[in-house]
Amino acid sequence: SLEGYESFMIKEIRESWGAVRDTIAGLMGDVEIGKAVKALDRARRVFVVAAGTSFHAGLIFSLRLLRNGKTVIPVIASEHEFLETDEDDAILVISQSGETMDSLLALKRFKSNGSFVISLTNTLGNSISSYSNVALHTRAGPEIGVAATKTFTSQVGALLLLSSMIIGESIDYLKEAETVVANSFSKSIGYMEKIGREVANKSSMYYLGKGLGVPMAMEGALKIKEIAYIHAEAYPAGESKHGPIALVEKGFPVIFVNTGELVDELRNNLKEMQSRQARTYVISAGPELKSDSETREIVLEVSDPRLTTLALAPPLQLIAYYAAKERGTNPDRPRNLAKTVTVR
Ligand code: M6R
Repeated sequence: SLEGYESFMIKEIRESWGAVRDTIAGLMGDVEIGKAVKALDRARRVFVVAAGTSFHAGLIFSLRLLRNGKTVIPVIASEHEFLETDEDDAILVISQSGETMDSLLALKRFKSNGSFVISLTNTLGNSISSYSNVALHTRAGPEIGVAATKTFTSQVGALLLLSSMIIGESIDYLKEAETVVANSFSKSIGYMEKIGREVANKSSMYYLGKGLGVPMAMEGALKIKEIAYIHAEAYPAGESKHGPIALVEKGFPVIFVNTGELVDELRNNLKEMQSRQARTYVISAGPELKSDSETREIVLEVSDPRLTTLALAPPLQLIAYYAAKERGTNPDRPRNLAKTVTVR
């Protein structure tokens, strides 16, 4: 039930730090994660298969492993037919529901090629986990809102843990995960409401980031399209000058997602947008980007740079939520969408 909240979406965003805590604790006490780490570590190539929001979580995982020398291929589930795997490959399927048809079909085909399949889902006894060699779970609890919120943040938490174990780095930093998400939510909610209300009357906007900020930007753009019906595109910030900037005119909203990676370059991209009179907003989970006193920026406190993606999740979800609220659309039940997509 709504328990006094206005919508499931806001309730579920508020449940996200507890969900991240439970997910990480659950996985740490799960013998299956050791099997997953072993298989992913041994594999010649790792294919990360998912759709929508789960794909964005998969991109974060993929980037982290790629930077550590692992061959990782992120696969949009509905495009799986264009790729082949073999018995030296491992597959990681990420799906909140565990029932997404595209992801399930990809899993079955890659498994029939002899590849070892690991899944990360948020329910017990779902189809995807039942076909997997190793089934891992996030522990976000039921998510009613069609927009993935706490399940995404939990996937990111789970995948930070998994990638750290594969890389062989200390996982101590994850002790702060819950606090970082909770603080980010409370610090940003007021400002995100303001941004959400300001962009609500716009028809188009950009989300720009660098490095791990790119999948976060993609997630921010997906969320606002999904529930507020505002056209939004995400780009690696440097790519914006190769075409997208042509659309930018006075007042065009551009949200910069700053993870603290290549800050000087990102700041240049910000200045480019400001010189086109874009209406820029910066959400920083790293060093401040501010180029002048005009820049609207919030700086989140993050105890370890590896936690930046977790910190950025609530603010990006909140912008979409408040934009939907301002537009009078129902964030829990967006048109044309189902919570679980069981068709191809
Ligand atoms: O259940 P899944 O994680 O497999 O679902 C994948 C997508 O359909 C899902 O993430 C969708 O993009 C969300 N509604 C986004 O908020």
